[in-house]
Amino acid sequence: MRVVSLFSGAGGLDLGFRMAGHDIVWANDLYEDAVHTYQKNLGNHIVFEDIHNISAEHIPDCDIVIGGFPCQGFSVANMNRNASDERNALYKQLIRVVKAKRPKFFLAENVKGITSLEKGKVFDMIMHDFAKMGYKVDYQVLNAANYGVPQTRQRVFIVGVFENIEWNFTFPKPTHCKDGTHGCPKWISVSEALSDLPDPDAENDVLNHTYSKYKLNINGYIGHRLLDPDKPAPTVTGRGDNRGGVVVLPHPNGRRRMSCRELASIQSFPIDYEFEGNNSSIYRQIANAVPPLLGYAVAKEFNKFSEDKEC
Ligand SMILES: C[S@@+](CC[C@H](N)C(=O)[O-])C[C@H]1O[C@@H](n2cnc3c(N)ncnc32)[C@H](O)[C@@H]1O
Repeated sequence: MRVVSLFSGAGGLDLGFRMAGHDIVWANDLYEDAVHTYQKNLGNHIVFEDIHNISAEHIPDCDIVIGGFPCQGFSVANMNRNASDERNALYKQLIRVVKAKRPKFFLAENVKGITSLEKGKVFDMIMHDFAKMGYKVDYQVLNAANYGVPQTRQRVFIVGVFENIEWNFTFPKPTHCKDGTHGCPKWISVSEALSDLPDPDAENDVLNHTYSKYKLNINGYIGHRLLDPDKPAPTVTGRGDNRGGVVVLPHPNGRRRMSCRELASIQSFPIDYEFEGNNSSIYRQIANAVPPLLGYAVAKEFNKFSEDKEC
């Protein structure tokens, strides 16, 4: 399918769609480092611009519009959890593009906290606005660990199917499970995910294998909690800003923070996916991303549309 990608960031979701065989024909972001990362790994079809400044006629026709609209305003990790946060209005840009392009499908991704913001009223409003465009909408919260990502990241995926299309999207069935029963492999642990990576302080040629020296103080707070190497990591978060930098998970050895490459592995980015920018910027791009393996699991479900039509 031809995919138009909004809020594409460093390209985690887009990589998942590409892995599932889809063709990303256009992408957009206003975060310069993320755009450079995207170009380096996925191609020059990404436009570096604020989406508000792009008119729909400059966006190509497509079968599906995808976008993880910015979530800081929605996140429970954010102290200013407030429905009037202007970033919350960015989903309206996705609506604008879907209305103009009339794709068969759209996919929106966000933090789980969006479903409970203002006692669920914000989510109801968004779902209502999406449905009003003439799409059958459905959503599900997916745990990345259930799809082979070494991280218990939970994200809500909202899917819209154009109302005239007689086909229903089904959310992907887990490929992994917590304890390895029911015939599926066990969740991938942090130690398994990091086992092939050398010590970043030793000489090595692994891309982006440098880490923040920001002091580690194991005190139980977010970013200062010892990781259990035998379990998937907790959610990699992008808290922080351009001044303070992001809160980075400690390495399970408890002596330092994870390197950018280690964090990318916890997000299931392949080892040759190269990030642009300084450490803080790279950590943020990684934390903002949909884990490619989770994106792949969701993207693959859209392949069933053409398979079902062929039957
Ligand atoms: C949650 S991140 C998306 C990450 C991406 N889906 C991935 O998997 O890597 C949201 C992105 O929206 C971008 N963004 C925020 N406001 C924007 C705007 N007005 N126009 C274009 N992009 C914007 C941010 O720069 C950020 O990269």
